[in-house]
Order: sequence, then structure tokens, then C-alpha cells
Amino acid sequence: MFKFNFDVEGTDMDPTILGPLLEPSSNSSSSAAGTMQTFRELTLNELLDALPDMISYSPLSFPLSSGRDLTLVRRDLFDARFQLISEAEEDPDEETSKREKISESSLKFVDSPSDLVPGVYEGGLKTWECALDLVDYLENSGARSPTGKVILELGCGTAIPSIYLLERLFAQPPTNTGLPMTHIHLQDYNDAVLQLVTLPNILLNWYMSPASISFRQSITSSEVSFPPVDSTAPGELPITSELVAAFQDSLLAFNISLRFFTGSWETFDLQQSLSLTKEANRDRTYDMVLTSETIYRVESLSALIELMRKSVGQHEYQCLVAAKILYFGVGGGVSEFVARVEGQSGRVETVWEKSAGVGRKIMQVHWP
Ligand SMILES: C[S@@+](CC[C@H](N)C(=O)[O-])C[C@H]1O[C@@H](n2cnc3c(N)ncnc32)[C@H](O)[C@@H]1O
Repeated sequence: MFKFNFDVEGTDMDPTILGPLLEPSSNSSSSAAGTMQTFRELTLNELLDALPDMISYSPLSFPLSSGRDLTLVRRDLFDARFQLISEAEEDPDEETSKREKISESSLKFVDSPSDLVPGVYEGGLKTWECALDLVDYLENSGARSPTGKVILELGCGTAIPSIYLLERLFAQPPTNTGLPMTHIHLQDYNDAVLQLVTLPNILLNWYMSPASISFRQSITSSEVSFPPVDSTAPGELPITSELVAAFQDSLLAFNISLRFFTGSWETFDLQQSLSLTKEANRDRTYDMVLTSETIYRVESLSALIELMRKSVGQHEYQCLVAAKILYFGVGGGVSEFVARVEGQSGRVETVWEKSAGVGRKIMQVHWP
């Protein structure tokens, strides 16, 4: 098992954001994952149905180099833990198998979200600091509006880059006027990550955005008490059927399609993920592929790089990888990544770099 420690050096960062240190533990040699999770789509409805009655959250605030402070909210991990325990207790019929399943997987990692077990749990419950670098880069690079783009976030975890893009979309007036649909596809190795943090975080940040305004106006006389729209303060969001319906209505109004995929990169089915994005006269590929803190394990690099290469086509695209220069103790890092991309005739351009302390980079990958 690998252990991820906190970044003591990045004191300007939220201390719950994970830092760079990886330490192999005693059984690390047996880490090459025997059986990898296979690709599966979890529908938005499935994920919405799996939400509990209430989600508690805390702010994630960080300064962008544009001068703007970005404040998002994230689900509290203790709340995810509470959900897992309550679900096990509510289901006496399946008691033994479900409890065993939970104790062996999700619950363990919610309790210790910085531990990685190759092929079992890959760290998606926590936010890693390069996710924030990627957001800062997207903000400052003058990246065009995500409207109408087909976007894939690989190894999304808490999905901060995608949530930033959604924040931009939700800040504009709704676009249900014939503009092209924006597709945001989120992939994580673990189902539990998508259920417990990815979708809840998207929903929470929608609630905090101008897009939820008509819902908020409609609940003034509601018996349920909703929190103020203040992403700088912790709170609890009741998950009512009205809130879920309003969220889905917003996605329609803003012409946004969200899809969720789980499983290993080597089993990722691009034909399925791109199936609903086809335009009348041509197959679509992704316009933007984003990934942060996913190149730490040498054994997984080839599958990730191959998937990135196949995800984009001949038209203009952004394929951005945010990573530490080196993941101590595991062997992964930028030079191994670059060598493998070049081995597949690709080219890596560094578009952002921080060299002080443990270095971090954002790389744009180009394919022939
Ligand atoms: C350390 S987490 C980073 C999460 C998030 N991108 C961030 O920066 O906060 C690594 C992510 O990569 C994904 N991942 C790692 N190895 C994978 C594999 N072999 N196949 C699919 N996904 C994998 C996991 O889903 C996990 O969420």
C-alpha cells in the first residue's frame, strides 16, 4: 500500500489538499494490480438516486494568479462515511455481504483517503494540489469558453477542474437556444468516488451558482430549510426531489450533458463514451482532456497515454496533464511520462511550471 502524506510545504494551500510524498509500504512490491476494475458507465440518474437526504460540505478556497479568489465547496468526508454506514444499517437483508463489501472497500478509504491500494483504490476521495494548478492554468491561459466542447476529465476524483468549468458555464445566461451542447465526461477508477464525492460536489457547486437561482426563489416557503448561498461557510444541503429536478432542469437549460465512467484506463470504452456526442456528419473526439495527479504509477502510464492519444482527433484540442515532477518512492513522474509519450510519437510541451520545493508542471500533450 502506498501512503500519501500532507504537503507541509504548501502552506498557502488548504491543508486537506494532498501533497506530493509517496512512500511505498512493505507490500508495495505486490502492487501491480492483479484484476483491474472494468469500464462501466454510471448514469446521472443512478448517481442522483444514490444521494442521501442531506450532504454536508465545507469551502475549498484558493487564490488564482488572476487575482480572483476561487471558492468552491466540497462534500465533507465524514459525511460520506456517515452515508456508507447508514446504508449498511438500513439494509438488513443484505447485511453480511453488504457490510463486508463496505468494510473491505469504500469505508476503509473514506477513513484513510490518502492511502492508495493499486487496482483497488486510487486516491480519488481527496483533492490533490495539482488539480488546483490546473484550474489556475485554465483561468489564466485564456482558454476559450467550454460551451459546446466535449470534455473528458480522467481520474477526476473530487473533480475540481470540471467543477471550475461548470462554474464558468453556470455563470453565463442559460443557452437552450440552439447552441451546441457541452459534454462533460468524468472518469474515476472507483464507483464509490463518483457516488460519494464527484457527483455530490457538482450538485453542491451548482446550488452555490447563479444557475440555481430560480430554484432558490421557489423554496422561500418550503418547510425544508436550505442553506444560504455562501460558499465560504460550511453547511448542509438537503437533497429533496425538487432540488434534484431543478438541477436536471438547469443542465437542460444550459445544454450540458454530464456522464460518468468508472474502471481502469485500459478498459475505457471510447466508442461508448463518445457515442452520444456524434455530430450529423462526423464522429466526435474530445476537445479537451484534463487530468491531474494521475502519472504517479509507472505501471499505469501506458494505458493512460494510450487513452489520451485515442481521445483526441485531428481537430484542435487541449490535452492537459498536471503533475508533480516526481512521485517519490513510486517511480512515476514527469520524465517517465514524457519518455512514454515520445515513445508513442507524441510531444509534450510544458505550459506551466513551479520549480521551488517539490516541482509541479502542467503539460500540453500533442499527437501527430
Ligand atoms: C491521486 S488521484 C487524483 C484525483 C484528482 N485528479 C485530483 O488531482 O485531485 C488519482 C486518480 O487517478 C485515477 N486512476 C489512477 N489509476 C488509474 C487507473 N489505472 N485506471 C483508471 N483510473 C485511475 C483514480 O480514479 C484517481 O482518482
